Amino acid sequence: MKYYIETYGCQMNVYDSRQMELLLQGDGHEPVQQPGEAELLLVNTCAIRESAEQRVWGQLGHYKRLKEKGPCRILGLCGCMAQNHAEGILRRAPHVDLVLGPGALHMLPQLIRRQLAQGSPQMDLAFYEEDFLDSSIARQARPSARRDSVDPVYPVYVAVMRGCDYHCTYCVVPRVRGGEVCRPPERICDEVRTLVGAGYREVTLVGQTVNSYRSDSVDFAQLLRSVARIPGLDRVRFATSHPRSFSSELIDALAEEEKLCEHVHLPVQSGSDRILRRMARRYTAGEYRRLCAELRRRVEGVSITTDLIFGFPGETEEDFQQTLDLMREVRWEGGFLFKYSPRPQVAADRLPDPVPKEVVSRRFQQALDLQMQIAAEANRPLEGTTVEILLEEIPKRTDSGLLHGSYKGRTRANKMVVVHPEDDDGASRLRVGDLIAVRITEARAYTLYGQMAEKAAVAG
Ligand code: 5AD
Ligand code: SF4
Repeated sequence: MKYYIETYGCQMNVYDSRQMELLLQGDGHEPVQQPGEAELLLVNTCAIRESAEQRVWGQLGHYKRLKEKGPCRILGLCGCMAQNHAEGILRRAPHVDLVLGPGALHMLPQLIRRQLAQGSPQMDLAFYEEDFLDSSIARQARPSARRDSVDPVYPVYVAVMRGCDYHCTYCVVPRVRGGEVCRPPERICDEVRTLVGAGYREVTLVGQTVNSYRSDSVDFAQLLRSVARIPGLDRVRFATSHPRSFSSELIDALAEEEKLCEHVHLPVQSGSDRILRRMARRYTAGEYRRLCAELRRRVEGVSITTDLIFGFPGETEEDFQQTLDLMREVRWEGGFLFKYSPRPQVAADRLPDPVPKEVVSRRFQQALDLQMQIAAEANRPLEGTTVEILLEEIPKRTDSGLLHGSYKGRTRANKMVVVHPEDDDGASRLRVGDLIAVRITEARAYTLYGQMAEKAAVAG
């Protein structure tokens, strides 16, 4: 069948979608470029905030029309929202044919066959731990998968663990993705070597709390060191870290291993100890502050980014001011800011004192403005400097020979850099995945702009 996978949500979902893709290709299905061309349309969903689910509910009418009028024969809802609503999906959207939880993705080919044979909706929401541990799906599917023959697409993720054991009171993840399960280091290194063999020079290790990774005697710092030493790799990243699991060995690894990029995504969620307690985050603002100070002291040029939630139940003006204070003090290079979104069946669901909507909006906007100002100030010193970027996008040459689009890539500190092409800059030579030197001409809050540095410095 011709298939299309639409992916919502986090890096783990991007990883999962790629695994599903490999499975489908291994089973003889073929990708198409548009959802409207697909006979098999899969939506890999997110449940972290209500808005993420609303987006998919909103699309279901559109998918229904594709089934009525287009080539679509099987519509599948996969991932966290499928797990969150289970039978509720089929009640609300009877035109859905497959419901597949994030712990059962490898059942996809089987479920498709069963659906075709029986013509009735199929659902699997089990957590098949063994399969995740033993067999990277990619290994099963490799013989006929095409990934090896296509150009690398960055960023590329490798899951080192699944699920989460933290149970922060606002978070649906432990319920929909289950408890923490770590893959053995050999499996992870094998998968990275496969990617290197396919031409990748940078990988990002992912997990919900990636730094709580442990497999027998191997902890996350050791895993990182092994991956960073795989020949052929130039850069290794990881996300997301939990402040409570950030060991001094991990700081040592970041300081010492050349291939490890100087970027740590370290969600803090709030600057108020009272709120952190209510969130069950298991650290104080002071501990977080000291961890960042230590990272900045030990890891030269490190960039620290964070997640923050505004309007958690019971958040007072004073709590909010403490978050603003922490923002001014830590000065994160980047922040993802969220309004608290009540999720069903999580502990915070039962907490009193909801914050009025208008108050949440005001706090959110105020924090957003502050974060933008801080990020812009943090980036400004980069103007005039030369940085190394790994190209994720290159301009295309039109039929008339003109270059269309820009070069885009990330610095080691994970900052996006845009370079407008000039016609004599060797565009035809450069490929996605090349490391090039760029002189920064303008630094804004979220993006840097630059020019190719001396040709001699082009390292691709
Ligand atoms: N409401 C708002 N934001 C949330 N996050 C997780 N759960 C919720 C929720 N219920 C945010 C956290 C987390 C990020 C991935 O999403 O900041 O770090
Ligand atoms: Fe959710 Fe907390 Fe686990 Fe992150 S650490 S996935 S916020 S429960």
